[in-house]
Amino acid sequence: MDLLNNLPEEILCHILSFLTTKEAALTSVLSKRWRNLFAFVPNLHIDDCDFRQSFMEFVDRVLALQGNSPIKKFYLGGMGGIDIDRVSCWIQNVMVRGVSEIVLSIFDDTPSADRNHMFPKVFQNKKLVKLTLSYGFDIRLVDGSIFLPTLKTLILHLVSVSVDTFDILLHALPALEELVLDDIDWKDLDDLDVNVTLSSASLKNLTINYCGSFVTYSFDTPSLAYFCYSSYAAEDYSVAKTENLFEARISVLVHGGDIWRARLPHNIWFEDEEDNVINQFSNVGNLMNGIRNVRCLVLSPDTLEVLSVCCESLPVFNNLKSLTITSNDNRGWQAMPALLRNCPHLETLVLEGLLHHVTDKCGDACDCVSREEKGRSLTSCPVKVLEIKGFHGTTKEIHLYQKKKTKEIHMIKHFLDYFPCLKEIKIYMEEDGPRQLRVPEASEGIAKMMMENYNNMSSGCNVQLLVSGNLYKKWWTP
Ligand SMILES: *[C@@H]1O[C@H](CO)[C@@H](O)[C@H](O)[C@H]1NC(C)=O
Ligand SMILES: *[C@@H]1O[C@H](CO)[C@@H](O)[C@H](O)[C@H]1NC(C)=O
Ligand SMILES: *[C@@H]1O[C@H](CO)[C@@H](O)[C@H](O)[C@H]1NC(C)=O
Repeated sequence: MDLLNNLPEEILCHILSFLTTKEAALTSVLSKRWRNLFAFVPNLHIDDCDFRQSFMEFVDRVLALQGNSPIKKFYLGGMGGIDIDRVSCWIQNVMVRGVSEIVLSIFDDTPSADRNHMFPKVFQNKKLVKLTLSYGFDIRLVDGSIFLPTLKTLILHLVSVSVDTFDILLHALPALEELVLDDIDWKDLDDLDVNVTLSSASLKNLTINYCGSFVTYSFDTPSLAYFCYSSYAAEDYSVAKTENLFEARISVLVHGGDIWRARLPHNIWFEDEEDNVINQFSNVGNLMNGIRNVRCLVLSPDTLEVLSVCCESLPVFNNLKSLTITSNDNRGWQAMPALLRNCPHLETLVLEGLLHHVTDKCGDACDCVSREEKGRSLTSCPVKVLEIKGFHGTTKEIHLYQKKKTKEIHMIKHFLDYFPCLKEIKIYMEEDGPRQLRVPEASEGIAKMMMENYNNMSSGCNVQLLVSGNLYKKWWTP
Protein backbone atom coordinates (compact mmCIF):
# COMPACT_ATOMS: atom_id res chain seq x y z
CA MET A 1 0.00 0.00 0.00
CA ASP A 2 2.89 2.38 0.85
CA LEU A 3 4.40 1.65 -2.52
CA LEU A 4 1.12 2.62 -4.21
CA ASN A 5 0.70 5.71 -2.05
CA ASN A 6 4.10 6.99 -3.16
CA LEU A 7 3.12 7.00 -6.84
CA PRO A 8 2.21 10.34 -8.42
CA GLU A 9 -1.48 11.10 -8.74
CA GLU A 10 -1.61 10.93 -12.56
CA ILE A 11 -0.29 7.37 -12.46
CA LEU A 12 -2.73 6.31 -9.77
CA CYS A 13 -5.60 7.82 -11.78
CA HIS A 14 -4.35 5.94 -14.81
CA ILE A 15 -4.33 2.69 -12.84
CA LEU A 16 -7.82 3.35 -11.53
CA SER A 17 -9.06 4.01 -15.05
CA PHE A 18 -8.56 0.32 -15.87
CA LEU A 19 -10.99 -0.76 -13.16
CA THR A 20 -14.74 -0.73 -13.44
CA THR A 21 -16.33 2.07 -11.48
CA LYS A 22 -17.50 -0.38 -8.82
CA GLU A 23 -13.97 -1.63 -8.25
CA ALA A 24 -12.52 1.86 -8.31
CA ALA A 25 -15.15 3.00 -5.82
CA LEU A 26 -13.93 0.32 -3.40
CA THR A 27 -10.50 1.97 -3.34
CA SER A 28 -12.11 5.19 -2.19
CA VAL A 29 -12.84 3.66 1.21
CA LEU A 30 -9.07 3.31 1.74
CA SER A 31 -8.29 6.90 2.54
CA LYS A 32 -9.27 10.45 1.86
CA ARG A 33 -6.54 10.76 -0.77
CA TRP A 34 -7.92 7.79 -2.68
CA ARG A 35 -11.45 9.19 -2.49
CA ASN A 36 -10.26 12.39 -4.14
CA LEU A 37 -8.31 10.47 -6.75
CA PHE A 38 -11.31 8.36 -7.65
CA ALA A 39 -13.18 11.54 -8.49
CA PHE A 40 -10.65 12.32 -11.23
CA VAL A 41 -10.58 8.99 -13.03
CA PRO A 42 -11.25 9.88 -16.70
CA ASN A 43 -13.37 6.81 -17.49
CA LEU A 44 -16.72 5.85 -16.05
CA HIS A 45 -17.27 2.13 -16.55
CA ILE A 46 -20.53 0.90 -15.09
CA ASP A 47 -21.03 -2.81 -15.69
CA ASP A 48 -23.81 -5.14 -14.50
CA CYS A 49 -26.11 -2.22 -13.94
CA ASP A 50 -29.39 -3.81 -12.81
CA PHE A 51 -31.44 -0.58 -12.59
CA ARG A 52 -32.47 -1.31 -9.01
CA GLN A 53 -32.92 1.73 -6.85
CA SER A 54 -29.78 1.04 -4.79
CA PHE A 55 -27.57 0.62 -7.85
CA MET A 56 -28.87 3.79 -9.47
CA GLU A 57 -28.24 5.68 -6.25
CA PHE A 58 -24.67 4.38 -6.29
CA VAL A 59 -24.19 5.79 -9.80
CA ASP A 60 -25.74 9.10 -8.75
CA ARG A 61 -23.29 9.28 -5.82
CA VAL A 62 -20.32 8.52 -8.08
CA LEU A 63 -21.36 11.29 -10.48
CA ALA A 64 -21.84 13.72 -7.60
CA LEU A 65 -18.38 12.87 -6.26
CA GLN A 66 -16.78 13.44 -9.67
CA GLY A 67 -18.45 16.84 -9.97
CA ASN A 68 -17.50 18.45 -13.25
CA SER A 69 -14.07 16.87 -13.75
CA PRO A 70 -13.43 16.01 -17.42
CA ILE A 71 -14.32 12.54 -18.62
CA LYS A 72 -13.20 10.61 -21.73
CA LYS A 73 -15.23 7.45 -21.84
CA PHE A 74 -18.62 6.44 -20.46
CA TYR A 75 -19.56 2.76 -20.54
CA LEU A 76 -22.94 1.60 -19.29
CA GLY A 77 -23.69 -2.11 -19.47
CA GLY A 78 -26.44 -4.08 -17.84
CA MET A 79 -29.89 -5.55 -18.05
CA GLY A 80 -33.27 -4.97 -16.52
CA GLY A 81 -36.12 -2.52 -16.86
CA ILE A 82 -34.31 0.63 -17.93
CA ASP A 83 -35.14 3.83 -16.11
CA ILE A 84 -34.94 6.08 -19.15
CA ASP A 85 -35.05 9.35 -17.20
CA ARG A 86 -32.25 8.33 -14.89
CA VAL A 87 -30.00 7.13 -17.75
CA SER A 88 -30.75 10.30 -19.72
CA CYS A 89 -29.56 12.31 -16.70
CA TRP A 90 -26.30 10.35 -16.54
CA ILE A 91 -25.71 10.84 -20.26
CA GLN A 92 -26.43 14.53 -19.88
CA ASN A 93 -23.90 14.65 -17.01
CA VAL A 94 -21.03 13.06 -18.98
CA MET A 95 -21.87 15.09 -22.09
CA VAL A 96 -21.47 18.33 -20.16
CA ARG A 97 -18.08 17.03 -18.95
CA GLY A 98 -16.91 16.63 -22.56
CA VAL A 99 -17.11 12.84 -22.98
CA SER A 100 -15.65 11.64 -26.31
CA GLU A 101 -16.72 7.99 -26.24
CA ILE A 102 -20.02 6.45 -25.13
CA VAL A 103 -20.85 2.74 -25.04
CA LEU A 104 -24.40 1.75 -24.13
CA SER A 105 -24.83 -2.01 -23.94
CA ILE A 106 -28.14 -2.46 -22.22
CA PHE A 107 -30.45 -5.41 -22.56
CA ASP A 108 -33.96 -4.36 -21.63
CA ASP A 109 -36.09 -7.25 -20.40
CA THR A 110 -39.38 -5.37 -20.22
CA PRO A 111 -42.01 -6.40 -22.82
CA SER A 112 -41.28 -4.62 -26.08
CA ALA A 113 -44.56 -2.65 -26.08
CA ASP A 114 -43.43 -0.85 -22.92
CA ARG A 115 -39.99 -0.02 -24.18
CA ASN A 116 -38.89 3.44 -24.91
CA HIS A 117 -35.35 2.87 -25.86
CA MET A 118 -34.15 6.20 -26.96
CA PHE A 119 -31.76 8.44 -25.22
CA PRO A 120 -32.07 11.36 -27.65
CA LYS A 121 -29.28 13.26 -25.90
CA VAL A 122 -26.77 10.78 -27.29
CA PHE A 123 -27.55 12.07 -30.75
CA GLN A 124 -26.85 15.72 -30.14
CA ASN A 125 -23.31 16.45 -29.16
CA LYS A 126 -20.40 18.40 -30.57
CA LYS A 127 -17.60 16.43 -28.88
CA LEU A 128 -18.57 12.79 -29.22
CA VAL A 129 -16.02 10.85 -31.34
CA LYS A 130 -17.11 7.25 -30.83
CA LEU A 131 -20.54 5.79 -30.11
CA THR A 132 -21.46 2.15 -29.57
CA LEU A 133 -25.08 1.03 -29.13
CA SER A 134 -25.82 -2.61 -28.35
CA TYR A 135 -29.05 -4.50 -27.79
CA GLY A 136 -32.61 -3.41 -28.05
CA PHE A 137 -32.10 0.18 -29.10
CA ASP A 138 -34.60 1.32 -31.61
CA ILE A 139 -33.13 4.05 -33.74
CA ARG A 140 -36.51 4.57 -35.40
CA LEU A 141 -37.45 6.66 -32.39
CA VAL A 142 -34.93 9.40 -33.08
CA ASP A 143 -37.06 12.18 -34.44
CA GLY A 144 -34.76 13.95 -36.85
CA SER A 145 -32.89 15.79 -34.11
CA ILE A 146 -29.47 14.27 -34.77
CA PHE A 147 -26.29 16.31 -34.76
CA LEU A 148 -22.92 14.64 -34.20
CA PRO A 149 -20.44 16.71 -36.25
CA THR A 150 -17.30 15.11 -34.74
CA LEU A 151 -18.38 11.49 -34.59
CA LYS A 152 -15.76 9.27 -36.31
CA THR A 153 -16.84 5.79 -35.24
CA LEU A 154 -20.35 4.38 -34.98
CA ILE A 155 -20.92 0.78 -33.92
CA LEU A 156 -24.45 -0.60 -33.98
CA HIS A 157 -24.93 -4.08 -32.62
CA LEU A 158 -28.32 -5.84 -32.47
CA VAL A 159 -30.34 -2.69 -32.89
CA SER A 160 -33.45 -1.96 -34.96
CA VAL A 161 -33.07 0.66 -37.64
CA SER A 162 -35.53 1.94 -40.16
CA VAL A 163 -34.18 2.69 -43.59
CA ASP A 164 -35.34 6.32 -43.47
CA THR A 165 -33.87 7.03 -40.04
CA PHE A 166 -30.60 5.43 -41.08
CA ASP A 167 -30.37 7.77 -44.03
CA ILE A 168 -31.03 10.77 -41.76
CA LEU A 169 -28.47 9.44 -39.29
CA LEU A 170 -25.70 9.07 -41.90
CA HIS A 171 -26.33 12.57 -43.20
CA ALA A 172 -25.93 13.96 -39.70
CA LEU A 173 -22.46 12.41 -39.36
CA PRO A 174 -20.19 14.45 -41.66
CA ALA A 175 -16.96 13.17 -40.01
CA LEU A 176 -17.87 9.47 -39.92
CA GLU A 177 -14.88 7.25 -40.81
CA GLU A 178 -15.73 3.86 -39.35
CA LEU A 179 -19.13 2.16 -39.33
CA VAL A 180 -19.92 -1.29 -37.96
CA LEU A 181 -23.38 -2.75 -38.65
CA ASP A 182 -23.61 -5.93 -36.66
CA ASP A 183 -26.79 -8.00 -36.69
CA ILE A 184 -29.03 -5.07 -37.62
CA ASP A 185 -32.76 -5.59 -37.76
CA TRP A 186 -33.77 -3.44 -40.74
CA LYS A 187 -37.33 -2.23 -40.35
CA ASP A 188 -39.32 -0.74 -43.12
CA LEU A 189 -42.89 -0.68 -41.96
CA ASP A 190 -44.55 -3.75 -43.46
CA ASP A 191 -42.30 -4.14 -46.47
CA LEU A 192 -40.34 -7.36 -46.83
CA ASP A 193 -37.98 -5.85 -49.40
CA VAL A 194 -35.82 -3.22 -47.83
CA ASN A 195 -33.50 -0.94 -49.78
CA VAL A 196 -30.67 0.27 -47.60
CA THR A 197 -28.60 3.14 -48.93
CA LEU A 198 -25.18 3.65 -47.39
CA SER A 199 -24.15 7.08 -48.47
CA SER A 200 -21.22 8.82 -46.84
CA ALA A 201 -18.49 10.93 -48.39
CA SER A 202 -16.13 10.47 -45.41
CA LEU A 203 -16.56 6.77 -44.59
CA LYS A 204 -13.27 4.82 -44.76
CA ASN A 205 -13.97 1.59 -42.94
CA LEU A 206 -17.23 -0.37 -43.23
CA THR A 207 -18.08 -3.67 -41.55
CA ILE A 208 -21.36 -5.48 -42.19
CA ASN A 209 -22.11 -8.64 -40.21
CA TYR A 210 -25.27 -10.74 -40.32
CA CYS A 211 -27.59 -8.15 -41.78
CA GLY A 212 -30.80 -9.32 -43.45
CA SER A 213 -31.25 -11.45 -46.58
CA PHE A 214 -34.12 -9.41 -47.94
CA VAL A 215 -32.07 -6.27 -48.16
CA THR A 216 -30.88 -4.53 -51.29
CA TYR A 217 -27.74 -2.53 -50.50
CA SER A 218 -26.73 0.60 -52.34
CA PHE A 219 -23.28 1.87 -51.47
CA ASP A 220 -22.17 5.38 -52.25
CA THR A 221 -18.93 5.59 -50.31
CA PRO A 222 -16.18 7.18 -52.43
CA SER A 223 -13.60 7.25 -49.58
CA LEU A 224 -14.03 3.64 -48.56
CA ALA A 225 -10.65 1.94 -47.97
CA TYR A 226 -11.58 -1.12 -45.87
CA PHE A 227 -14.67 -3.21 -46.42
CA CYS A 228 -15.59 -6.30 -44.45
CA TYR A 229 -18.75 -8.22 -45.34
CA SER A 230 -19.84 -11.33 -43.50
CA SER A 231 -23.48 -12.09 -44.07
CA TYR A 232 -25.94 -14.21 -46.05
CA ALA A 233 -26.34 -13.07 -49.64
CA ALA A 234 -28.52 -9.98 -49.88
CA GLU A 235 -31.20 -9.50 -52.55
CA ASP A 236 -28.86 -7.36 -54.57
CA TYR A 237 -26.05 -4.81 -54.39
CA SER A 238 -25.50 -1.58 -56.19
CA VAL A 239 -22.10 -0.04 -55.63
CA ALA A 240 -21.02 3.38 -56.84
CA LYS A 241 -17.50 4.75 -56.60
CA THR A 242 -15.05 2.81 -54.50
CA GLU A 243 -11.88 3.89 -56.29
CA ASN A 244 -9.90 4.09 -53.05
CA LEU A 245 -10.71 0.63 -51.80
CA PHE A 246 -7.59 -0.99 -50.39
CA GLU A 247 -8.80 -4.16 -48.73
CA ALA A 248 -12.05 -6.16 -48.94
CA ARG A 249 -12.86 -9.27 -46.94
CA ILE A 250 -15.92 -11.00 -48.34
CA SER A 251 -17.57 -13.87 -46.55
CA VAL A 252 -20.97 -14.66 -48.03
CA LEU A 253 -22.61 -17.15 -45.67
CA VAL A 254 -24.45 -20.04 -47.28
CA HIS A 255 -26.82 -22.78 -46.10
CA GLY A 256 -25.62 -26.29 -47.02
CA GLY A 257 -28.65 -27.07 -49.21
CA ASP A 258 -28.13 -23.94 -51.26
CA ILE A 259 -24.60 -25.03 -52.16
CA TRP A 260 -26.07 -28.21 -53.59
CA ARG A 261 -28.47 -26.16 -55.75
CA ALA A 262 -25.68 -23.89 -56.93
CA ARG A 263 -23.77 -26.93 -58.19
CA LEU A 264 -26.61 -28.10 -60.45
CA PRO A 265 -26.09 -27.31 -64.14
CA HIS A 266 -27.11 -23.75 -65.02
CA ASN A 267 -30.06 -24.62 -67.26
CA ILE A 268 -31.86 -26.40 -64.41
CA TRP A 269 -32.09 -23.38 -62.22
CA PHE A 270 -32.27 -20.63 -64.82
CA GLU A 271 -35.72 -21.81 -65.90
CA ASP A 272 -37.07 -21.62 -62.38
CA GLU A 273 -37.92 -18.03 -61.55
CA GLU A 274 -38.78 -18.93 -58.00
CA ASP A 275 -35.22 -19.93 -57.34
CA ASN A 276 -34.44 -16.83 -55.36
CA VAL A 277 -31.29 -18.08 -53.67
CA ILE A 278 -29.54 -18.68 -56.98
CA ASN A 279 -30.63 -15.22 -58.07
CA GLN A 280 -29.12 -13.78 -54.91
CA PHE A 281 -25.90 -15.74 -55.53
CA SER A 282 -25.61 -14.39 -59.03
CA ASN A 283 -26.18 -10.86 -57.68
CA VAL A 284 -23.04 -11.27 -55.54
CA GLY A 285 -21.38 -10.63 -58.93
CA ASN A 286 -22.71 -7.05 -58.65
CA LEU A 287 -20.96 -6.70 -55.29
CA MET A 288 -17.71 -7.98 -56.82
CA ASN A 289 -18.12 -5.59 -59.72
CA GLY A 290 -18.55 -2.72 -57.23
CA ILE A 291 -15.28 -3.57 -55.47
CA ARG A 292 -13.29 -4.29 -58.63
CA ASN A 293 -10.70 -1.57 -57.81
CA VAL A 294 -9.62 -3.33 -54.62
CA ARG A 295 -5.91 -4.01 -53.99
CA CYS A 296 -6.18 -6.84 -51.45
CA LEU A 297 -9.05 -9.30 -51.55
CA VAL A 298 -9.85 -12.05 -49.06
CA LEU A 299 -12.54 -14.61 -49.93
CA SER A 300 -14.08 -17.32 -47.73
CA PRO A 301 -14.72 -20.89 -49.00
CA ASP A 302 -18.47 -20.24 -49.26
CA THR A 303 -17.90 -17.04 -51.22
CA LEU A 304 -15.79 -18.89 -53.77
CA GLU A 305 -18.58 -21.42 -54.18
CA VAL A 306 -21.16 -18.62 -54.60
CA LEU A 307 -18.98 -16.96 -57.24
CA SER A 308 -19.15 -20.13 -59.33
CA VAL A 309 -22.70 -19.02 -60.20
CA CYS A 310 -21.47 -15.71 -61.62
CA CYS A 311 -18.13 -16.63 -63.23
CA GLU A 312 -19.19 -15.12 -66.56
CA SER A 313 -19.95 -11.74 -65.03
CA LEU A 314 -16.88 -11.47 -62.80
CA PRO A 315 -15.13 -8.12 -63.33
CA VAL A 316 -11.45 -7.74 -64.17
CA PHE A 317 -9.62 -6.79 -60.96
CA ASN A 318 -7.07 -4.49 -62.52
CA ASN A 319 -5.58 -3.19 -59.25
CA LEU A 320 -5.59 -6.47 -57.37
CA LYS A 321 -2.12 -7.27 -56.02
CA SER A 322 -2.96 -9.77 -53.28
CA LEU A 323 -5.65 -12.46 -53.29
CA THR A 324 -6.33 -14.72 -50.31
CA ILE A 325 -8.55 -17.79 -50.69
CA THR A 326 -9.60 -19.82 -47.70
CA SER A 327 -10.43 -23.41 -48.62
CA ASN A 328 -12.23 -26.23 -46.96
CA ASP A 329 -12.85 -29.73 -48.21
CA ASN A 330 -16.64 -29.29 -48.54
CA ARG A 331 -16.43 -26.25 -50.76
CA GLY A 332 -15.43 -26.11 -54.41
CA TRP A 333 -12.90 -24.18 -56.45
CA GLN A 334 -15.03 -23.84 -59.59
CA ALA A 335 -14.60 -20.07 -59.56
CA MET A 336 -10.80 -20.25 -59.29
CA PRO A 337 -10.03 -20.41 -63.04
CA ALA A 338 -12.25 -17.40 -63.80
CA LEU A 339 -10.93 -15.50 -60.80
CA LEU A 340 -7.26 -16.08 -61.67
CA ARG A 341 -7.83 -15.13 -65.30
CA ASN A 342 -9.39 -11.85 -64.12
CA CYS A 343 -6.46 -10.71 -61.97
CA PRO A 344 -3.97 -9.47 -64.60
CA HIS A 345 -1.64 -7.80 -62.06
CA LEU A 346 -1.75 -10.26 -59.18
CA GLU A 347 1.54 -10.49 -57.24
CA THR A 348 0.69 -12.59 -54.19
CA LEU A 349 -1.69 -15.52 -53.93
CA VAL A 350 -2.38 -16.89 -50.47
CA LEU A 351 -4.14 -20.24 -50.21
CA GLU A 352 -5.29 -20.98 -46.70
CA GLY A 353 -5.64 -24.72 -47.17
CA LEU A 354 -5.28 -26.61 -50.45
CA LEU A 355 -7.98 -29.19 -49.98
CA HIS A 356 -11.31 -28.46 -51.60
CA HIS A 357 -14.34 -30.24 -52.92
CA VAL A 358 -13.44 -31.50 -56.37
CA THR A 359 -15.82 -30.81 -59.22
CA ASP A 360 -15.17 -31.08 -62.92
CA LYS A 361 -14.90 -27.31 -63.23
CA CYS A 362 -11.88 -26.66 -61.02
CA GLY A 363 -9.64 -28.86 -63.12
CA ASP A 364 -7.76 -26.15 -64.89
CA ALA A 365 -6.68 -24.35 -61.70
CA CYS A 366 -5.65 -27.41 -59.74
CA ASP A 367 -4.51 -30.90 -60.64
CA CYS A 368 -7.42 -32.78 -59.16
CA VAL A 369 -9.15 -33.41 -62.49
CA SER A 370 -7.16 -34.44 -65.56
CA ARG A 371 -8.17 -32.37 -68.52
CA GLU A 372 -6.80 -31.26 -71.82
CA GLU A 373 -6.60 -27.62 -70.82
CA LYS A 374 -5.14 -28.39 -67.40
CA GLY A 375 -3.26 -25.43 -65.98
CA ARG A 376 -4.57 -23.02 -68.59
CA SER A 377 -5.93 -20.41 -66.15
CA LEU A 378 -2.59 -20.37 -64.34
CA THR A 379 -0.48 -19.64 -67.39
CA SER A 380 -1.93 -16.14 -67.79
CA CYS A 381 -1.57 -15.27 -64.09
CA PRO A 382 1.53 -13.21 -63.25
CA VAL A 383 1.63 -14.17 -59.57
CA LYS A 384 5.16 -14.00 -58.09
CA VAL A 385 4.62 -15.17 -54.51
CA LEU A 386 2.49 -18.14 -53.54
CA GLU A 387 1.82 -18.73 -49.85
CA ILE A 388 0.27 -22.00 -48.78
CA LYS A 389 -1.03 -21.97 -45.24
CA GLY A 390 -2.28 -24.88 -43.16
CA PHE A 391 -0.21 -27.42 -45.09
CA HIS A 392 -0.86 -30.87 -43.62
CA GLY A 393 2.19 -32.49 -45.12
CA THR A 394 0.53 -35.82 -45.47
CA THR A 395 2.07 -38.04 -48.12
CA LYS A 396 -1.04 -40.16 -48.39
CA GLU A 397 -3.60 -39.49 -51.06
CA ILE A 398 -6.57 -37.64 -49.74
CA HIS A 399 -10.03 -38.85 -50.68
CA LEU A 400 -11.86 -35.79 -51.78
CA TYR A 401 -15.14 -36.65 -53.36
CA GLN A 402 -16.40 -39.94 -54.61
CA LYS A 403 -13.30 -41.55 -56.13
CA LYS A 404 -11.29 -38.40 -56.80
CA LYS A 405 -8.05 -38.10 -54.89
CA THR A 406 -5.13 -35.77 -54.71
CA LYS A 407 -2.02 -35.04 -52.71
CA GLU A 408 -1.16 -31.59 -51.48
CA ILE A 409 2.27 -32.10 -52.95
CA HIS A 410 0.80 -32.74 -56.42
CA MET A 411 -0.93 -29.40 -56.24
CA ILE A 412 2.29 -27.61 -55.35
CA LYS A 413 4.02 -29.27 -58.30
CA HIS A 414 1.12 -28.18 -60.48
CA PHE A 415 1.55 -24.54 -59.41
CA LEU A 416 5.32 -24.75 -60.03
CA ASP A 417 4.68 -26.16 -63.47
CA TYR A 418 2.16 -23.63 -64.68
CA PHE A 419 2.49 -20.24 -62.94
CA PRO A 420 4.98 -18.63 -65.34
CA CYS A 421 6.31 -15.83 -63.10
CA LEU A 422 6.56 -17.62 -59.77
CA LYS A 423 9.60 -16.54 -57.72
CA GLU A 424 8.72 -17.81 -54.28
CA ILE A 425 6.55 -20.46 -52.65
CA LYS A 426 6.15 -20.37 -48.89
CA ILE A 427 4.62 -23.48 -47.39
CA TYR A 428 3.42 -23.04 -43.82
CA MET A 429 2.98 -25.96 -41.44
CA GLU A 430 2.07 -25.91 -37.78
CA GLU A 431 3.97 -28.08 -35.37
CA ASP A 432 1.57 -30.03 -33.25
CA GLY A 433 2.99 -32.28 -30.56
CA PRO A 434 2.48 -35.99 -31.16
CA ARG A 435 2.34 -35.71 -34.97
CA GLN A 436 5.63 -33.83 -35.22
CA LEU A 437 6.95 -36.57 -37.46
CA ARG A 438 4.93 -35.03 -40.27
CA VAL A 439 7.43 -32.21 -40.63
CA PRO A 440 10.46 -34.28 -41.75
CA GLU A 441 8.12 -36.40 -43.87
CA ALA A 442 6.67 -33.35 -45.57
CA SER A 443 10.13 -31.92 -46.09
CA GLU A 444 11.25 -35.17 -47.73
CA GLY A 445 8.15 -35.16 -49.92
CA ILE A 446 8.87 -31.64 -51.14
CA ALA A 447 12.57 -32.46 -51.76
CA LYS A 448 11.58 -35.52 -53.80
CA MET A 449 9.06 -33.56 -55.83
CA MET A 450 11.69 -30.88 -56.53
CA MET A 451 14.24 -33.49 -57.68
CA GLU A 452 11.86 -35.36 -59.96
CA ASN A 453 10.63 -32.26 -61.72
CA TYR A 454 13.83 -30.29 -61.78
CA ASN A 455 13.73 -29.76 -65.52
CA ASN A 456 10.30 -28.45 -66.23
CA MET A 457 9.40 -26.09 -63.39
CA SER A 458 9.34 -22.32 -63.69
CA SER A 459 12.95 -21.31 -63.23
CA GLY A 460 14.50 -19.28 -60.44
CA CYS A 461 11.84 -20.02 -57.89
CA ASN A 462 12.63 -20.66 -54.27
CA VAL A 463 10.49 -22.98 -52.21
CA GLN A 464 10.47 -22.64 -48.43
CA LEU A 465 8.98 -24.82 -45.77
CA LEU A 466 8.13 -22.85 -42.63
CA VAL A 467 7.20 -24.63 -39.44
CA SER A 468 5.30 -22.57 -36.88
CA GLY A 469 6.55 -19.44 -38.62
CA ASN A 470 10.27 -20.39 -38.72
CA LEU A 471 12.20 -21.41 -41.82
CA TYR A 472 12.72 -25.19 -41.76
CA LYS A 473 14.19 -25.83 -45.23
CA LYS A 474 14.66 -24.08 -48.54
CA TRP A 475 15.02 -25.32 -52.12
CA TRP A 476 15.71 -23.65 -55.48
CA THR A 477 14.56 -24.49 -58.97
CA PRO A 478 17.29 -24.07 -61.66
C1 LIG B 1 -35.45 -1.57 -54.12
O1 LIG B 1 -34.59 -1.42 -55.21
C2 LIG B 1 -34.89 -2.26 -56.29
C3 LIG B 1 -33.80 -2.14 -57.32
O2 LIG B 1 -33.14 -0.91 -57.26
C4 LIG B 1 -36.27 -1.90 -56.83
O3 LIG B 1 -36.60 -2.73 -57.91
C5 LIG B 1 -37.29 -2.07 -55.72
O4 LIG B 1 -38.55 -1.66 -56.14
C6 LIG B 1 -36.87 -1.27 -54.50
N1 LIG B 1 -37.77 -1.60 -53.39
C7 LIG B 1 -38.24 -0.69 -52.55
C8 LIG B 1 -39.07 -1.21 -51.44
O5 LIG B 1 -37.98 0.49 -52.67
C1 LIG C 1 -11.93 -1.35 -39.57
O1 LIG C 1 -12.94 -1.56 -38.62
C2 LIG C 1 -12.91 -2.82 -37.99
C3 LIG C 1 -14.13 -2.94 -37.09
O2 LIG C 1 -14.18 -1.90 -36.17
C4 LIG C 1 -11.60 -2.96 -37.23
O3 LIG C 1 -11.52 -4.24 -36.62
C5 LIG C 1 -10.43 -2.78 -38.19
O4 LIG C 1 -9.22 -2.83 -37.49
C6 LIG C 1 -10.55 -1.47 -38.93
N1 LIG C 1 -9.52 -1.42 -39.94
C7 LIG C 1 -8.73 -0.36 -40.13
C8 LIG C 1 -7.68 -0.50 -41.16
O5 LIG C 1 -8.86 0.66 -39.47
C1 LIG D 1 8.22 -32.80 -66.69
O1 LIG D 1 9.30 -33.60 -67.08
C2 LIG D 1 9.06 -34.98 -67.04
C3 LIG D 1 10.33 -35.72 -67.39
O2 LIG D 1 11.43 -34.89 -67.43
C4 LIG D 1 7.92 -35.36 -67.97
O3 LIG D 1 7.64 -36.74 -67.87
C5 LIG D 1 6.69 -34.55 -67.57
O4 LIG D 1 5.64 -34.80 -68.49
C6 LIG D 1 7.01 -33.07 -67.55
N1 LIG D 1 5.88 -32.36 -67.05
C7 LIG D 1 5.42 -31.26 -67.62
C8 LIG D 1 4.24 -30.63 -66.96
O5 LIG D 1 5.93 -30.76 -68.56
